[in-house]
Amino acid sequence: MNTLIIGDIVGRTGRNILKDKLKGIIAENEINLVIANAENAAGGNGITRKVADELFEIGISALTMGNHVWDQKDIFNFIDDEKRIIRPANYLPNTPGRGSSLLNINDMKVGIINLQGTVFMPCNRNPFLIAEQEVNALRESTNIIIIDFHAEATSEKIAMGHFLNGRVSCVYGTHTHVQTADEKILSEGTAFITDVGMTGPYDSILGMDKERIIQKFTSSIPVKFDLAKGPAQINGIVVKIDEVSGKCTDIYRINKNYT
Ligand code: FE2
Repeated sequence: MNTLIIGDIVGRTGRNILKDKLKGIIAENEINLVIANAENAAGGNGITRKVADELFEIGISALTMGNHVWDQKDIFNFIDDEKRIIRPANYLPNTPGRGSSLLNINDMKVGIINLQGTVFMPCNRNPFLIAEQEVNALRESTNIIIIDFHAEATSEKIAMGHFLNGRVSCVYGTHTHVQTADEKILSEGTAFITDVGMTGPYDSILGMDKERIIQKFTSSIPVKFDLAKGPAQINGIVVKIDEVSGKCTDIYRINKNYT
């Protein structure tokens, strides 16, 4: 099974470039399943029903989230009923939505888990302990398990990869919006990359207007961030997974700039 995982979609620029190019990438790489991080998909913060539907319509099967999950209040109207949207599993009990999902893709059961890191992030439950519980539960139904670890620190993400090595198909990082070049298959067959990167404005600082961010770093006055405009980039990975064992047989990066 060939899975395309798309790095954090930022705003309209990210959505529009996927509308244009996703079909081609799917065909070129013979993709069976597309997963994307969409916590910044609506105006740069959060997600709405309309934006989620837009992304499902262009061929994305599941959307994972992160620390911006609640930024658009519309999400409270649909997250409990939407199996294809997955927010971090290590949020406190009684949080709306779900932290993992078992989806049926081309007659195959695929488990998807979203987790949030602890370094430079709001305090939540321990992502390693919650990962353990979620993986054990999903493994009752499938060997194909894919994990989006939405986190800041490289060490925390690499540790999660090795912690789950051999028990899941892929552990990948999101959140930093910067694609790392460390994609690999770990010793027991789990695909890993520290961060898949960003799908959004190319000439920007993590998707935001450069001037505003520089202003923030060169003054002591709070600054409101604006989305950057202009050409787009698509960042992601392709992970090839053995359908029976759930082990990864190949991982490579997608890094396209449409300048
Ligand atoms: Fe984030």
